[in-house]
Amino acid sequence: MTQTLLLLPGDGIGPEVIEQAVRVAEKVAPDLALEEGLIGGISYDQLGTPLSDETLEKAKASSAVLLGAVGGPKWSDVARDKRPEAGLLNIRKGLDTYANLRPALCFSALADASALKRELVEGLDIMIVRELVGGVYFGQPKGIETLPDGTRRGFDNAEYTTPEIHRITRVAFDIAKGRGNYDRKWGGVCSVEKSNVMDSGLLWKEEVQAIYDAELKDMGVPLHHMLADACAMQLVREPKGFDVILADNLFGDILSDEASMLTGSIGMLPSASLSDAGKPGLYEPVHGSAPDIAGQGKANPFAAILSLEMALRWSLGRIEAADEVTRAVSTALEKGARTGDLGGDFTTAQMGDAVLAEL
Ligand code: NAD
Ligand code: IPM
Ligand code: MN
Repeated sequence: MTQTLLLLPGDGIGPEVIEQAVRVAEKVAPDLALEEGLIGGISYDQLGTPLSDETLEKAKASSAVLLGAVGGPKWSDVARDKRPEAGLLNIRKGLDTYANLRPALCFSALADASALKRELVEGLDIMIVRELVGGVYFGQPKGIETLPDGTRRGFDNAEYTTPEIHRITRVAFDIAKGRGNYDRKWGGVCSVEKSNVMDSGLLWKEEVQAIYDAELKDMGVPLHHMLADACAMQLVREPKGFDVILADNLFGDILSDEASMLTGSIGMLPSASLSDAGKPGLYEPVHGSAPDIAGQGKANPFAAILSLEMALRWSLGRIEAADEVTRAVSTALEKGARTGDLGGDFTTAQMGDAVLAEL
């Protein structure tokens, strides 16, 4: 059966980086059927909604979805439920991609591009497993209200249920088992929360432990618990002490941006968002639409190319093609391919050229 990859380039640098990922896809998986759709601000401009039913249906029917980025200052005055970011949240929810895998891998050629000393990050290979369709992002009620005395009050509700915590914990343990890095200081799974102040955080800690005791212990994967603020600190103090970090939606978002700087640049970090087996995965760079450099050919397309790599690996079962892409990116970096975020002056297209030359 033909596999289809739905491209949702989105806004800002999204289309620029997806264009390079498409060149790579056409080279390593020429039989893959590529389709295109709208999401984000461009969808709002053309259709009045950041995620149309048509795009969601197309996504559900595809083998995998490759998304660029959404958002930008142009839409800052649009109502929240019509903002580009709402399109992103709705497609994640609509596909039930609850497991967001955000690997932070420091390619050896980039060890000096990190904000941290080479010895702290060289060889770094950690995986953040972020719960993606629950928590404070989706909890109700949320809103902004004006009280009788004119005071404005904004509120969000951080909430988790046992099934939500159990399913993401199972994913984290499966991944940690496949990696086998148990000898690191916090090797195996390190679950983070704020159980010291948040009830949803306390439930998170208790239920991760409970499902571990009841179901996962025999896998032999160690489990650690850490407060999320301490994790933020240890990530820059001793990042190689971690293997798999299991986090809720909000902490996972913040910690993965932090982890990106260990690898050299946010322009390098891909992600995979997975649902249950057999359902399409959603693949996107961790970075946003970068309005400050959009349209200038300055964007680093490697996060998008590595997101394609993850799609080949996790949804399309094309492990050899995925390995080839990783090798090509690594070699391109060794030969000096660098956009501005990595301290070089390559254009987005030249970065694509550099990868294609190695395929
Ligand atoms: P951002 O990630 O877009 O940019 C942060 C900084 O990193 C900027 O200086 C930018 O130039 C740089 N940067 C990001 N990606 C880069 C790349 N590939 N190459 C080189 N430099 C890169 O974050 P932001 O500025 O906080 O957000 C901009 C918009 O993007 C907002 O509307 C935000 O909501 C949205 N956003 C979308 C996504 C997504 O679509 N997945 C993720 C994050 C932010
Ligand atoms: C990300 C982004 C999104 C998030 C925004 C744009 C909704 O920051 O993918 O990391 O917070 O999940
Ligand atoms: Mn983010």
